[in-house]
Amino acid sequence: MTQAVQSEIYNYIKQNEHVIEEYIEKLGSFGRLSEGGIVRPVYSDQWFAAHRQLADWMAEAGLEVRADAVGNLWGLHGRKSAGKGYASGSHLDTVKEGGKYDGGLGILAALAAIRFLKELYGEPRLPLEVVALCEEEGSRFSKTFLGSRAITGTLPAEELDENRDAEGISVAEAARACGFNPAQLDSARRTDLAGFIELHIEQGRLLDDVKLEVGIVQAITGTRHMTVTFDGQADHAGTTPMDLRSDALVAAAQAITNINAIALKMGRPAVATVGKLSIEPGATNIVPARVVMTVDMRHSEPDKKAFLICQVEQACRTAAATQRVEVTFEREMDRIPAQMSPEIINLLKATADELGISNMAMVSGAGHDSQVVVEQIPTGMIFVPSKSGRSHSRAEYTPLDQILPGIAVLAQALYKLAY
Ligand code: GLV
Ligand code: MN
Ligand code: MN
Repeated sequence: MTQAVQSEIYNYIKQNEHVIEEYIEKLGSFGRLSEGGIVRPVYSDQWFAAHRQLADWMAEAGLEVRADAVGNLWGLHGRKSAGKGYASGSHLDTVKEGGKYDGGLGILAALAAIRFLKELYGEPRLPLEVVALCEEEGSRFSKTFLGSRAITGTLPAEELDENRDAEGISVAEAARACGFNPAQLDSARRTDLAGFIELHIEQGRLLDDVKLEVGIVQAITGTRHMTVTFDGQADHAGTTPMDLRSDALVAAAQAITNINAIALKMGRPAVATVGKLSIEPGATNIVPARVVMTVDMRHSEPDKKAFLICQVEQACRTAAATQRVEVTFEREMDRIPAQMSPEIINLLKATADELGISNMAMVSGAGHDSQVVVEQIPTGMIFVPSKSGRSHSRAEYTPLDQILPGIAVLAQALYKLAY
């Protein structure tokens, strides 16, 4: 590609930055709470309204729009018959009270990049697609990566009926209520893609600290999610002596403190988090009979991740024994550390260098659909900075001028691949 074409794309993005800003503000209004923060679990009313908005934008940009069996939304530019194409996007769901950039930005970056390429250069040689993946966070159902597991053919059909939200509604029921056809799960699988690129906010503070414009992701950390249940005995809080109790919450509390200490002692990048707890029966004057809690454990090295999990389970067993309660573990998700594809990493790095965009190689401590997609399709990720590293919080923020370089790298890379 000539230098002239390169600056043309970046200049066009800068001239049209208002388009990107409007996209971000509008998408961020779906599920926004009055006090700030977004709640947009998959297949909720707010999620579906955002989905319809994206479909409208894709159609306005002249893309061919379709939703697959689980509600991943695709916008196609070019002809499928031309050969294997390239897709870019991220996830539409948000964590509870999250920000407007986690997931949403990657969809909008892809939409803007493909729209601008179409406006500047017309039909591509190979098809390009924007994708809004339906779910990544696990904010409604206990299992994560619904959208990317559907397109890679790694989502077991039984899970659609077995995985249920807090109200007992299954994935399949919720998807059907939005008009999707989860019975056709197999049809969501994509074997006709030559590559996938996901732009995402970093969600950590490295780029912001060193004031570099983009991160080129080399690998994504390994994660285990599990649910731990402590089963004790409900008893009268006034008449049951302390030494005769089987208090599930005291066991959980001991376990939580020890889990934190274990990850701290292992040192960075080991992390372990108990983020959700339910207590039954949950009354002032009843000794807690049951506690169900989630544990999120991560490490970028497989053997250290295994060691962390082993230690955490042991801490739960010890706490349970001390309080005379039972403990059981359920594995919700397990992902080994994922290497991004060298050819996409090299492409993104060369493109950033050619554009004069400062960049660094990074390892992602957050999980992403890309770690699932890369198992089947060559995949890479572009990070843009997160102000003070804040994410999974309403404080999540990236100014527009720190978003544009990432979109330029994305658009340029897609141009090289497909035009
Ligand atoms: C997803 O955002 C995760 O890392 O949990
Ligand atoms: Mn997230
Ligand atoms: Mn995300």
